[in-house]
Amino acid sequence: MFTLHEGDCIEILQTIAPESVDMVFADPPFNAGKEYADEFDDKLPLAEYRAWLTKWIEQAERALKQGGTFWLMQDQRHLGYCQMELERLGLEFRNIVSWAYTNPTPASDGFPKTWRPILLFSKGKPNTFDWHADQMGRETLYYNPGRAKTNFPNDLWPDIPKLVGGIFAPPELLRTREGRFAHLAQMPEKLADRAVRIATLPGEIVLDPFMGSGTVGAACKKIGRRYIGIEKSHVYFAMAEKRIKKSALQPSLFTPSNIASTGQERADSAAPVLFQS
Ligand SMILES: C[S@@+](CC[C@H](N)C(=O)[O-])C[C@H]1O[C@@H](n2cnc3c(N)ncnc32)[C@H](O)[C@@H]1O
Repeated sequence: MFTLHEGDCIEILQTIAPESVDMVFADPPFNAGKEYADEFDDKLPLAEYRAWLTKWIEQAERALKQGGTFWLMQDQRHLGYCQMELERLGLEFRNIVSWAYTNPTPASDGFPKTWRPILLFSKGKPNTFDWHADQMGRETLYYNPGRAKTNFPNDLWPDIPKLVGGIFAPPELLRTREGRFAHLAQMPEKLADRAVRIATLPGEIVLDPFMGSGTVGAACKKIGRRYIGIEKSHVYFAMAEKRIKKSALQPSLFTPSNIASTGQERADSAAPVLFQS
């Protein structure tokens, strides 16, 4: 089931049944003055932007099942506000994941930002938290000798470069005929893939209130999750719809033999590992 809505997320979220989705992945505009495609102000007065954050966070939380997972990507500036809102609504804090990129944008009035926070909360104890569902490009050394080295993800994700244009542009970057970014905030698909794999099982439902170019939807289609996406801009909605329709279920590259040396292999790689709080 893939349900794509064109429209305002606050209105559409209200039509979604309470406690009906297994995971939310939200990548909202950061109020950073970006020029998105359609009529839409990305430079609101601070209080107005934060009131807007509250409205959609409340609606997305309402749609989340007990035991569901809420990922919220934000700029460093509004991270604390979003964290407090999720806590106010009774969700449980799990992590702040740092998506660390090797290619930050230079800044003139502060340090260049080399990491983007992604809040990870759950509604009560998470139904699924399968941190063996993906692997990172490099090993982490753990203190506990039984876990000496693993490639399983921790809260620092330095292995996913931000998408770039020009001659280094990866094939996944959607471009205009002139070669420019078709969506100025397109996220790498690997990031969505990791978040979805870890927090859901095949067939479960992911809700994405800010579909953009359709990155989360494309990842869901490839790994067999159901998906509800919302996008306000007509241009981006059409882009996401086309991209998701073109994506196809892919066989998993992950095999239990990949983890044979860690001492943590599970009898059944499809069975979730529950998060121990
Ligand atoms: C940061 S981008 C999401 C990018 C997406 N993760 C991707 O990889 O392409 C935010 C998106 O939210 C959309 N948007 C902004 N306000 C919205 C609203 N009220 N309801 C739904 N979508 C909205 C913007 O048009 C933009 O495409």
